[in-house]
Amino acid sequence: MYRTHTCGELRLADAGKTVTLAGWVQRSRAMGGLTFVDLRDRYGITQLSFNAERDKALCDQANELGREYVVEATGTVKERESKNNNIPTGGIELVVTELKVLNAAKTPPFTIEEETDGGDDLRMKYRYLDLRRANVRKNFELRHRMAIETRNYLSAQHFLEVETPVLIKSTPEGARDFVVPSRMHQGEFYALPQSPQTFKQLLMVAGMDRYFQIVKCFRDEDLRADRQPEFTQIDCEMAFVEQEDILQMFEGLAKHLFKSVLGKEFTEPFPRMTYDEAMRSYGCDKPDLRFGMKFQYLTPALSQGEGGMPLTPGPSPGERGADLARGHGFKVFDEAELVVGINAEGCAGWSRKQTDALIDFVKRPQIGATGIVFLKWTEEGLKSTVDKFFTPEQLQQWAERCGMKQGDLLCIMAGKADKTRKQLNELRLHIGDLCNLRDPWTFSPLWVVDFPLLEQDEESGRWHAMHHPFTAPKPEDAHKLESDPGSVKANAYDLVINGTEIGGGSIRIHDRALQEAMFRVLGFSDADARAKFGFLMEAFEYGAPPHGGAAFGFDRWVSLFGGRSDIREFIAFPKNNAGKDVMIDAPSPIDAEQLKELGLEVKG
Ligand code: AMO
Repeated sequence: MYRTHTCGELRLADAGKTVTLAGWVQRSRAMGGLTFVDLRDRYGITQLSFNAERDKALCDQANELGREYVVEATGTVKERESKNNNIPTGGIELVVTELKVLNAAKTPPFTIEEETDGGDDLRMKYRYLDLRRANVRKNFELRHRMAIETRNYLSAQHFLEVETPVLIKSTPEGARDFVVPSRMHQGEFYALPQSPQTFKQLLMVAGMDRYFQIVKCFRDEDLRADRQPEFTQIDCEMAFVEQEDILQMFEGLAKHLFKSVLGKEFTEPFPRMTYDEAMRSYGCDKPDLRFGMKFQYLTPALSQGEGGMPLTPGPSPGERGADLARGHGFKVFDEAELVVGINAEGCAGWSRKQTDALIDFVKRPQIGATGIVFLKWTEEGLKSTVDKFFTPEQLQQWAERCGMKQGDLLCIMAGKADKTRKQLNELRLHIGDLCNLRDPWTFSPLWVVDFPLLEQDEESGRWHAMHHPFTAPKPEDAHKLESDPGSVKANAYDLVINGTEIGGGSIRIHDRALQEAMFRVLGFSDADARAKFGFLMEAFEYGAPPHGGAAFGFDRWVSLFGGRSDIREFIAFPKNNAGKDVMIDAPSPIDAEQLKELGLEVKG
């Protein structure tokens, strides 16, 4: 037996006991004839003490210990003279009588402390050392708790956890597939699932009724802080449900996780917003509702189909009315499809340097705007950067329409409708950050509903499924699927928390003819649709129940609950931004022999 207790366990009540601990040397301090060693394991840190007067040889042995040595120490628990109230074991120390080095360690390439000196690359190369840091380890304790609570909730709701295969055929979720060559069927490939979408639908045809899986998904797409090529979903599907049943069920899951993991209770239903409203008022389909700054329009509503943006209408009819921006000789506004602003409350005092920094922010290539028009309401009254073109009365009208009061700063952008909204969304989030309105411990959940079924690629004119091709149109729109695809809304929904898309799902098509029509709209020939998805469409002919479901990005959800935006911190062995695992050096070339076996040849 290597230990009787863990390094996080001993308290004053244990004083006098003889115990054995095992762990890693966090640090050691020699002070005169005394040596103190902090011994660490997953559970905490316990101080070991050595006294040269009592046992010189043992103390010398302790002085030889380097950082991260693995040791076993036996001794007596004693009340400490100077207590450390910062750690739970800080009232005691272990007066060591026997010390065994179980394994020596090289000096680690970075310090194993909460505040480490290791950069990202180094930490990932030695991730097993990084994971020893208490703050990193906590992320995995959180992940574990969330997985357990997810299972508890879903299991209590009669969901069955069923595993689906990983070597499959392509499931289109909007990304590229990772493929695996087959040795037995040379020239043929498996695809790794972008999600278990088709399988979970088949499980509904199979009568499983309620399915879930905490499952790895694989997508070959550009990486960002909230995207990894392999990531985990809480994947769910239910039979005999309508959208409302699904929203209720998974709002229940979210509330259960908030309560059981964070101790936060949500008693009210989560707010809901249509996709159109989200685009109109926030310029994106995942608005961060921790703060206001809704879009305020100075131009009248765009009707559907205007301005090359058939799917995102302009201001609501209530906000139609006079054009307050165009026709006054200011070219940027005159040529714009849309002039829209956000009211940064209390920011009128921002200096020229601060507002210039906002302009620099939106001019960065990632955003690509040309500038911002400002209207400040200070003690001296309204002052804009376009005073030349507008009378004080006209500026007053802007202020009224945008709900300004003294002390506020209106930031206005103009241009093509779709682009301008996206740019203003970025600016809104940025100002939210600058004003500390995005506190990670405030949570604002939101259901975004009534997504369009399809979106059109500007260049090719082809239609793409906005969620995925198995999503059902709203029944009242189904008849327009082939005649007017752009106007069809879907029974699709996203769960957004603090501006992050945590999950999404839809009611599915369960009728062969409708699924065939959908594939036609997406540009599949009948033969192609049959070759790729014949198995699913055939299953629809054997008694497929109405069904629907959702999947939640587990890594994203954990990172949200952990107060961080980088999901890599919550994935034990993540890939870097270039899609590489720098620790094991993957991807890497394979042997000529292996290539031959697979019937593959690498060119170039
Ligand atoms: P969707 O594609 O919206 O839906 O994915 C569901 C959720 O998974 C998370 N997610 C990711 N997380 C990390 N890295 C990624 N690369 C990544 N991609 C997606 C997001 C997202 O909301 N089959 C459907 C679900 C359904 O219809 O039931 C699906 O996969 O949080």
